[in-house]
Amino acid sequence: MMWFNYAQAQSFMPTEGTKIASQVDNLYGFLLAASFISCVIVIGGMIFFVWKYRRRTETDKTAYITHNTFLEFLWSFIPLVIFLAVFAWGWNIYHDMRTMPKDALEVQVTGKQWAWEFEYKSGVKTGNLLVVPVNKDVKLIMTSKDVLHSFYIPSFRIKQDVIPGMYTSLWFNADKLGEFHVFCAEFCGTQHSGMLATVKVVTQAEYEAWLIEESQVGMLPLAQRGQKLFQAKACASCHSVADASAKVGPSLWQKFGTKELTEEGEFAIDENFVRESILSPNAKTTKGFPKGVMPTFQGQLNETELSALIEYIKTLK
Ligand code: CUA
Repeated sequence: MMWFNYAQAQSFMPTEGTKIASQVDNLYGFLLAASFISCVIVIGGMIFFVWKYRRRTETDKTAYITHNTFLEFLWSFIPLVIFLAVFAWGWNIYHDMRTMPKDALEVQVTGKQWAWEFEYKSGVKTGNLLVVPVNKDVKLIMTSKDVLHSFYIPSFRIKQDVIPGMYTSLWFNADKLGEFHVFCAEFCGTQHSGMLATVKVVTQAEYEAWLIEESQVGMLPLAQRGQKLFQAKACASCHSVADASAKVGPSLWQKFGTKELTEEGEFAIDENFVRESILSPNAKTTKGFPKGVMPTFQGQLNETELSALIEYIKTLK
């Protein structure tokens, strides 16, 4: 049914970023058109008959009609054929979606309140940013650190629950360059709606250059390494760095070297304070922010990484 195509119609649907996306849209287009035609036939027929067989005089009698086997067979059999066709059509697309390709580029995805972390085979890690080469099968192996999330790329028409304690997977083959939204599609707490990421589809050469650049983060100056790490761990989902606005957590802008009023008293924000706040976030919490919201990063950062983060926070002025 290529006569109804959302891409050509430039309609309300998001850009089709994969072949499967246009297949899904064609099926939806057919369903929409079939529903519209049925609606016109049923409602239109009803209105026409109401008018045609309206009562004309006081002595009008209703004709004695029992049933019409042929008509009843037709209006059952035709929809049955259409429904079976729609089932086969949908099953076919779903089967393609759920059959993982061989030799795909595999990326580990971790959902956490409230960010997406991506890890490549080479060890490169990013936060809320998935960079992939165009026209290449990509397989995502996904899990969650805390609660149920759902990884959703509307432009690719794929969505999958991300579950703590197990892996689920998704695959796609992006055939358009550009940036596409990733949403969390499972309510997972206060910042659920802010749990966003970007899929960036680039050429193979750009992808390889990006991977090399990212893997050389260790050679950058400490503060810049801290900035990269800050992005990779998606700290910015909860802490603003460019102004004093509070998000889920307090802003880190112009904080280093000042004093912080916490639930436990007033403390100077120095290296030790930042270190403790990262490793044991509940030891001291800023007044007005609840305990138990920030996860601990104990065991997830080595000493150099901690220093890099502290150096980065020092530069936020
Ligand atoms: Cu994660 Cu909603």
